[in-house]
Amino acid sequence: MTKVRFLSADGESEQLVDAPDGTRLLEVAQEAGQPLEGTCEGQMACSTCHVIVDAGDFEKLPEASEEEEDMLDLAVGATRTSRLACQIHLGDTLDCLTVRIPPEHRDMQGR
Ligand code: FES
Repeated sequence: MTKVRFLSADGESEQLVDAPDGTRLLEVAQEAGQPLEGTCEGQMACSTCHVIVDAGDFEKLPEASEEEEDMLDLAVGATRTSRLACQIHLGDTLDCLTVRIPPEHRDMQGR
């Protein structure tokens, strides 16, 4: 089990959820009602699942693949510690993970 803390874009609210091992961060976020689109459902073709990872936790995650880095280049508001939530598998490395929802996120339907 991994504890995941979601921080809102404005930093005003946070939500703490328990994520079973083996789940992807995107699924956990969507189940918790966080505003992550995840349009391509993990195919690394949309970047709408972009989250900003806490700097300390970022160091502990397995490195992003080249494909993930390429998609992050297209993500709105990406930072040095940005990752795609669909590529983060929980239960491997962290007991607790803190991520922030980016201030702007692109929605593929143009909404
Ligand atoms: Fe599309 Fe993660 S869901 S890149």
